[in-house]
Amino acid sequence: MTATTHPEPVVELTGVTKEYPGGVTALRGVDLSIGGGELLAIVGPSGSGKSTLLHIVGTLDRPTAGCVRIAGHDIAALSDRSLSALRSRHVGFVFQSFHLVPGISARANVAEGLLYSGLSRAERGRRAAHALERVGLGDRMDHRPHELSGGQKQRVAIARAVAGAPDLLLADEPTGALDTASGESVMELLHELNRDGATIAVITHDNEIAASLPRQVRIRDGQVVADIRAGRAAPAGADAGAAR
Ligand SMILES: Nc1ncnc2c1ncn2[C@@H]1O[C@H](COP(=O)(O)OP(=O)(O)OP(=O)(O)O)[C@@H](O)[C@H]1O
Ligand SMILES: [Mg+2]
Repeated sequence: MTATTHPEPVVELTGVTKEYPGGVTALRGVDLSIGGGELLAIVGPSGSGKSTLLHIVGTLDRPTAGCVRIAGHDIAALSDRSLSALRSRHVGFVFQSFHLVPGISARANVAEGLLYSGLSRAERGRRAAHALERVGLGDRMDHRPHELSGGQKQRVAIARAVAGAPDLLLADEPTGALDTASGESVMELLHELNRDGATIAVITHDNEIAASLPRQVRIRDGQVVADIRAGRAAPAGADAGAAR
């Protein structure tokens, strides 16, 4: 993981709106800036627009209006092809349901995340092994997903997301499918990676998880209603209270 500090924020959204075909406005004028080395929660009730926001921040989708800058690049200026390249270089994803490839080893799953890195196959395997050691799975390299517990699967997914040292790690409900103990250990791992310099945004509807992170961005009905950093509150709207 690089601990490089960018002259610009890793993520900068200005006035981002997202309308889905069919008329749902999932985001309404979101301003959000994420600096290098931050660990934040994006928290809000079901349907508030969290996953939509993650897709836009992760450049998986483009906004209907507004500006998105990732690691200094204005994504509106990029073709879809350049955008995929930017994404593979700068962003790692972790999802609630792990999204591992069945039937191949943990190590092969992690190496898969480096497919477009330009590294040789041998180097990808070496880095995958290192990433798995880092998440505490050095002794499970050859296990296939169905031979791992839920918490271990999520660790493999995290190893895959961070193996390429992205500038930004985005996790959508990373503990949603886990029991309390595995969930806590996954959150502890995210804290550890952040201490090593990773910039991480965790999407959650769980207020307890959100409260355990140094910054909480609360969204409701597609708008940021509060942006709270540990110790000081910066209300982003009239309603700066809890999002649920
Ligand atoms: N592809 C889509 N097409 C049309 N509407 C969509 C699409 N994806 C999401 N929506 C709508 O946009 C709104 C925001 O959805 P989103 O998935 O971002 O919510 P969320 O905060 O992640 O919710 P949850 O906590 O349940 O995952 C919802 O009203 C949803 O129905
Ligand atoms: Mg969601």
